[in-house]
Amino acid sequence: MRRLAIKVWEFPVRLFHWTNFLAIVVLSLTGAYIHWPFLSTPNSAFPFLMGWARAIHFVAGWVLMVGLVGRLYWAFVGNRYARLSTFFPYLTRKGWKQIWGVLRYYLFLARRMPSHLGHNAIASTAYGFLFLLLGFQVVTGFALLGQADLASTTYRVTGWVFDIATNQWVRLGHYFAMWVIFAFFITHIYAMWMSDLAERDGTAGSMFSGYKYGEFESFADTDPRGR
Ligand code: HEM
Repeated sequence: MRRLAIKVWEFPVRLFHWTNFLAIVVLSLTGAYIHWPFLSTPNSAFPFLMGWARAIHFVAGWVLMVGLVGRLYWAFVGNRYARLSTFFPYLTRKGWKQIWGVLRYYLFLARRMPSHLGHNAIASTAYGFLFLLLGFQVVTGFALLGQADLASTTYRVTGWVFDIATNQWVRLGHYFAMWVIFAFFITHIYAMWMSDLAERDGTAGSMFSGYKYGEFESFADTDPRGR
């Protein structure tokens, strides 16, 4: 079978992937420091360290929000691999078949992963939940920010969060989510690498180049332009 190079990830998908990634790294580092300010001492050479950590956290928070909104927009106008429905395979019978096929492969019960060009069905399910979790971080983050000024637009938009949970619960949820995102990150790197080696489909480089490679002719809907 002929090996094909197929444009899978369009530029906006790659752009938002990397801006979201950078924002999450910065948010996790500064967030961890906000939670545990181990360097702040009264005699610190950097007395405004916490101020900087918080300021950088908030700027990265805006970057993440813009990245998520941008990616959501592209889920409606992008190519078939970018679409919103790809993140919810469990909503269709065909999707469940794909999930089962991937699970069998992961459990060493099948020699091959079901053919796929975009994400495999379990990966896309995980990304769907990750997006929801990042949305949770944005809402709770801006709600916490809004509490600093109860007359602010931020508080007017997000203040309803505190009708559901107290500040302490919101902070705990925001903090706990960071660890869930961290667990996702480790699994994501492992799965991406494994997929690249086992399937030889260029997964690792695809988020830079946009292209995946393989014997994808079995795909009835394969279109080299990625449309
Ligand atoms: C991946 C996303 C994010 C992660 C991992 C993250 C992580 C954290 C962590 C660990 C804390 C400390 C929690 C505590 O101990 O109370 C924190 C606090 C906070 N975060 Fe985030 N955060 C994220 C997104 C956001 C966003 C989008 C915003 C919106 C601006 C935001 C705003 C805040 C605020 C206002 C605080 C409280 C700061 C304070 O009390 O001084 N966060 N974040």
